[in-house]
Amino acid sequence: MQRFVIPAHAGIQLWRSNQERAIAPPQRQGWIPAFAGMTAGEAPGSATVKGKRIRPWHTRHTMGFDYRTLRLAARAIRKGAHKAHLGGGAAHFAERGEFQLALLRQLGLERGHRLLDVGCGPLRGGLPLIRFLAPGRYRGVDANASLVEAAHHELGEAGLADVRPRVTLLADFEFATLAERFDFVLLFSVLNHCTPDERAHFFANVPDVMADGARIVVSHADWLVPGDPTRAGLECTTRIERASDLPPPLDPARWSFPQGRGGPLPIVVLRAAA
Ligand SMILES: C[S@@+](CC[C@H](N)C(=O)[O-])C[C@H]1O[C@@H](n2cnc3c(N)ncnc32)[C@H](O)[C@@H]1O
Repeated sequence: MQRFVIPAHAGIQLWRSNQERAIAPPQRQGWIPAFAGMTAGEAPGSATVKGKRIRPWHTRHTMGFDYRTLRLAARAIRKGAHKAHLGGGAAHFAERGEFQLALLRQLGLERGHRLLDVGCGPLRGGLPLIRFLAPGRYRGVDANASLVEAAHHELGEAGLADVRPRVTLLADFEFATLAERFDFVLLFSVLNHCTPDERAHFFANVPDVMADGARIVVSHADWLVPGDPTRAGLECTTRIERASDLPPPLDPARWSFPQGRGGPLPIVVLRAAA
């Protein structure tokens, strides 16, 4: 009988570069094939593993909020209404944005790197990233026109308009149209709002914007299954499953994120397969 071997915590095979290895304490570096008992006959339908009912991955996309239908009037944007459409709202906008910078720095982001913030929204993470990166190194794209408008509003409010970071509308992950390659591609709370077809489209197109050695950082990635990145010639180098996989200062709870559901974990780092 053919068997799927899916590592621990609905996880995927983990390979870590030396730098990324530093993120997790040593005891988290081995990964147990906890789902090893799951048979081919049970997938992709639901399965029972260790007494727990597991929903099939293709039904597990968590489109809690549909950003495709969100429209905001210019007046509402001027009042900051867009912040209410992100987890944590206006109260935690700055803090949760700073977390994205701290996370990426932990994953090796340097000032001179080129970064593509896919689904950048109103620049919650974008503002700290723009301040950190050298001029011209940040690029943000989003499929929602109101949120792109909100991003431009935030740049003005932050006094960053002069830096001229490029924040533009991009539908359907049509990355080839950017005609540019990046060292980091960030998707913070984006693919979890997409359908499986949209995610498949993302994985098919993302090689178009990857520079040599580029890293793709995806948060809220509990929907990810090994086949998604593998089909695109990518491999997972790091999977941050729990807060204890991060250095204590990066514990998402310290940055106002809820623990468990609604929090940014798991966070995965993908690269071109060796
Ligand atoms: C929860 S918000 C996160 C925004 C930003 N990454 C942050 O952390 O503040 C999700 C964002 O993903 C964007 N988005 C969803 N699907 C997208 C797609 N197919 N292409 C580009 N952006 C998308 C939404 O418009 C929205 O701005």
